[in-house]
Amino acid sequence: MTTDRIETLLDEQRRFAPPAAFSAAALVRDLTPYERARQDREGYWADWARQLEWMRPWDRVLEWTPPHAKWFVGGKLNASVNCLDRHVRAGNGGRTALIWEGEPPGDERRITYAELHADVNRFANVLKGLGVRRGDRVAIYLPMVPEVAVAMLACARIGAVHTVVFGGFSAESLRDRIDDAKAKVVVTADGGYRRGAVVPLKQNADEAIAATPGIEHVVVLRRTGQPVPMRAGRDRWWDDLMAGAAADCPPEPMDAEDPLYILYTSGTTGKPKGILHTTGGYLTHVYATTKWVFDLKDSDVFWCTADVGWVTGHSYVVYGPLALGVTALMYEGAPDHPGKDRFWAICAKHGVTVFYTAPTAIRAFMKWGPELPARHDLSRLRLLGSVGEPINPEAWMWYHRTIGGGRCPIVDTWWQTETGGIMITPLPGVTTTRPGSATIAFPGIEATLLDGEGREVQVGGGYLAITSPWPGMLRTIWGDDERYRQVYWSKWPQTYFPGDGAKREDDGYFWILGRVDDVLNVAGHRIGTMEVESALVDHPAVAEAAVVGKSHELKGQALAAFVTLKEGLQATEPLREELKQHVAKKIGALARPDDILFSADLPKTRSGKIMRRLLKDIAEGRALGDTTTLADPAVVARLKDQYEAQES
Ligand code: WTA
Repeated sequence: MTTDRIETLLDEQRRFAPPAAFSAAALVRDLTPYERARQDREGYWADWARQLEWMRPWDRVLEWTPPHAKWFVGGKLNASVNCLDRHVRAGNGGRTALIWEGEPPGDERRITYAELHADVNRFANVLKGLGVRRGDRVAIYLPMVPEVAVAMLACARIGAVHTVVFGGFSAESLRDRIDDAKAKVVVTADGGYRRGAVVPLKQNADEAIAATPGIEHVVVLRRTGQPVPMRAGRDRWWDDLMAGAAADCPPEPMDAEDPLYILYTSGTTGKPKGILHTTGGYLTHVYATTKWVFDLKDSDVFWCTADVGWVTGHSYVVYGPLALGVTALMYEGAPDHPGKDRFWAICAKHGVTVFYTAPTAIRAFMKWGPELPARHDLSRLRLLGSVGEPINPEAWMWYHRTIGGGRCPIVDTWWQTETGGIMITPLPGVTTTRPGSATIAFPGIEATLLDGEGREVQVGGGYLAITSPWPGMLRTIWGDDERYRQVYWSKWPQTYFPGDGAKREDDGYFWILGRVDDVLNVAGHRIGTMEVESALVDHPAVAEAAVVGKSHELKGQALAAFVTLKEGLQATEPLREELKQHVAKKIGALARPDDILFSADLPKTRSGKIMRRLLKDIAEGRALGDTTTLADPAVVARLKDQYEAQES
């Protein structure tokens, strides 16, 4: 056993009880919520829902016709009212809702609940003026600026369904999402800042829209001030429209089960899935988890570093914190701009108390060294969170000591775009944590491990499974209910299959091990291998492509592509670069493969199926696994030699 492996095992055995001072002031101090939820799960979730403001009470808490659930049936509410109006009405209009830091240093805004309320009302009127009606879809392609929250909540106010597209996605990815959602309006900006450069959002949007028939209007926010072409009649400036809009827009009473948003995520096919979330259950789930997992009080400054283009940003930058009425921090740019201590400078400057980020970021901070956080006063931090991928015990320990000063509990939260909110997590005031374990299910969530036949695994490895419906669950895949049934509910009867493998120890704690399907997790971003393969074969030089994930020190996983060129074409270095660029253009820079290996053949079974398992062995430099089912075992041995030659 290597010393690294031994250290990992030792770290996994460590136990961190919540510090007494933390527990004494925590919102949850004992295990009664788990008991309450076990005895009456629906009653427990109804207690949470009652903490929201409803325009009409629900008739039934849950209607479960597997695999379709309806929560708070018959209830009516509006998400923007819950995030804004009720706080203003309660006298908290002067409280800061968002502290915003732009990437260029010094660019800073503080926005109160009253101001955010006024802006959301205005923008809701703007959208109405552009012909957006209840149920229509609006695509939002913005940088991390307060206006992204304004646009989302304005949609919610009038009952329109937003689909936020991450600013790092390409024009083609945007086009696919606009098309699939049949969006009517795009909200974008003249650009956004990333690592000192300007991301050409409007240009990408123009390219996307040129190929989509349905877009009637484009609203353009001035962020960078760089000139962008504006098409007369179609494109309008955000500030011009806002200047002429009334600051009062009555909220639409929405059914608890009316759609709130669609968010696209990668699956095992080439086509991303439009995950549909509805209003009442989703808001209840994110409200509850934001409150208890992050133990948030009025005095807190909560910083979730995720981009709103991902579900973490939806649930824990926008809807959760605002529904709770606390102060959330939003940062526009990269963690290493202008210096690699930018995050710590922000924490110190704004007195961040609760900080939530991804393991890939933590591993980068580790590499950059402890001197950087040491330069800043991080003493206000009292709780740390992790999300997006398994956190290795070494990174956990570093986070605990170097960022948390040994005094902050860490909540390692497991969940997905599909689950809407956190599912497996410590409660920081009561749970004894172990480095690398997400611990146990949140009260009211029922999770277990099953084997392929659906038998429960008490101790050992298995597939993670959710055995009862929960309020924030996805309701379907937009436009493809059959795929919804197939992907999530066909493995076992009436049980949700998240696609993750996990192990459980005798204390009942879960250790999430990663995806068991063809979905990769690169730097906390979900990427389907099929999407990247489709992008590669779309290039005229490529005959066939196979993509696998290989372990990567910082990113968790990196992409390795095996490419067969069309007859007669030469594998060259410029072509390799061109293919990487092609993928970045088709999907976005996040999907650019780290390695491309050209090969005359790919290892296939006799029935012609590419053996990705063997490609992964090659990419990770391991001894080859079983090759007996291959049509031509020599292919894979040749590939391995070739790969090793290229690496050295
Ligand atoms: C992985 C992000 C281990 C997992 C919220 C899941 C995690 C996928 C954790 C969802 C965690 C997320 N520990 N793995 N704490 N959190 N994952 O949809 O594989 O972008 O299925 O949602 O990330 O990614 P998604």
